[in-house]
Amino acid sequence: MNCNTGYNRDEMDGQMENNEKFVVRGGRPLVGEIKLAGAKNAATKLLVATLLTDEECVFENFPRIGDVEVAKELCAILGSEIRAIDSHLVIRTPEIKTTRVASLHRRNRIPILALGPLLNRKGEAEVPIVGGDKIGPRPVDMHLESLKELGAKIEINNNFYRASVVGRLKGADIALKYPSVGATEQVILASVLADGKTTVSNSAVEPEIMDLIKFLQKMGAIIELGTNRTIAIHGVPKLHGARHKILSDRNEAVSFACLAVATNGRILVNGAEQDHLITFLNDLRRIGGEYEVMGDGILFWRARPLTPVRIETDTHPGFMTDWQQPFLTMLTQASGESSIHETVYEDRFGYTRDLNLMGADIRVVDACLGNLPCRFRDKKCPHSAIVKGPTPLHGAKLRVPDLRAGMAHILAALIAEGESEISGVSEIDRGYEKIVERLSFLGADIRRVG
Ligand code: EPU
Repeated sequence: MNCNTGYNRDEMDGQMENNEKFVVRGGRPLVGEIKLAGAKNAATKLLVATLLTDEECVFENFPRIGDVEVAKELCAILGSEIRAIDSHLVIRTPEIKTTRVASLHRRNRIPILALGPLLNRKGEAEVPIVGGDKIGPRPVDMHLESLKELGAKIEINNNFYRASVVGRLKGADIALKYPSVGATEQVILASVLADGKTTVSNSAVEPEIMDLIKFLQKMGAIIELGTNRTIAIHGVPKLHGARHKILSDRNEAVSFACLAVATNGRILVNGAEQDHLITFLNDLRRIGGEYEVMGDGILFWRARPLTPVRIETDTHPGFMTDWQQPFLTMLTQASGESSIHETVYEDRFGYTRDLNLMGADIRVVDACLGNLPCRFRDKKCPHSAIVKGPTPLHGAKLRVPDLRAGMAHILAALIAEGESEISGVSEIDRGYEKIVERLSFLGADIRRVG
């Protein structure tokens, strides 16, 4: 069977493009202290969760990034009143003004998560089909099947998912065929106000999902974490407002850690949480990076010349798929042959073409280079990469295909000799707050133009 490879032009059309570029001159070690923003992949879902109540919710550590703007726009269309004060965000949806979201097509993955809250409050919903990164096909079959199991009727056309329910959604036993982050969140958001008990087996257990559960508990939900990836949600009739500090962004933490080690610098990452990074910290140490867990964060540096490693991405608590891009870029500077087997997405190595243009030696293959169970084993999917190093990199003109690949491009440009020009930077702004200012503060020669 073949893999559906190549960037999806439709999804690209849905993104907000601009002509801004980053101009980066490499060769400087990054040194200093940085504070993590709130996690993108928690903040966006927490906003959707506030639609479950007509009372006020307050968030601390709220990130100012592109994907959050899309989630805010979604909530505003549905009737939310939103105020942002520094990194605090106050949101209240006294009334759902409409159940139909007629814009935001393919902007990101968040609108589909509004189906559950809308079904609970109004019994009907219509949201635009999802977009997201250009990292291969990203089906939503598990989202929609789960909602059907909870009693919703679903219709799909080219532009919308339409859902309706007669009376209340009803608790059900839902077995996910894969521990999908989004599908797990979909079930939780739909079942907290459903009639009766819902169990989700084979659920995802990422820290961002735990943050969502913590917030919903504060709102009055009853959610139990069982063994073996099982979550039980006991529906309640009503939820109330709550206040919550959003967990810090572990993807930002990994990006800054890789920047410290790859540029042979030293960065104290304030807000980095050891228990969200355990797998990463082990692999970083294996290749010659080092860290010290301090009171408020983690200090990262390079302890010795870098050596190769074999990595397989996985669901939490494994090595996260969103970490492989900066990590692989760092491995271009290790002596010997490394490999990364990507088991979460079937086509997430497109960005390596650009790294090769800069002088890297990376080969992407269809074979599974590892032993983890992999859904792409018998398909022709370019989902393993072999990296030979160390290879000096030189500046180039790059175009960012997706958010995490964008961090690989920045990192490559910062270790390369000469100047690089990175276009398509709105992708990076989707997930990294004020990245140019923060990297400049660490000593990077990077500026935004255009
Ligand atoms: N999948 C299905 N059917 C579904 C849902 C998912 O087949 O109904 C498959 C996907 O195609 C993929 C796998 O399951 O192969 C995992 O997808 P998952 O649903 O877990 O991912 P997601 O919820 O769409 C979130 C993050 C991603 C992160 C993944 C994995 C958000 C908004 N996005 O995506 O983050 O890579 O979980 O941890 O939370 C990023 O931040 O750059 C990013 C891509």
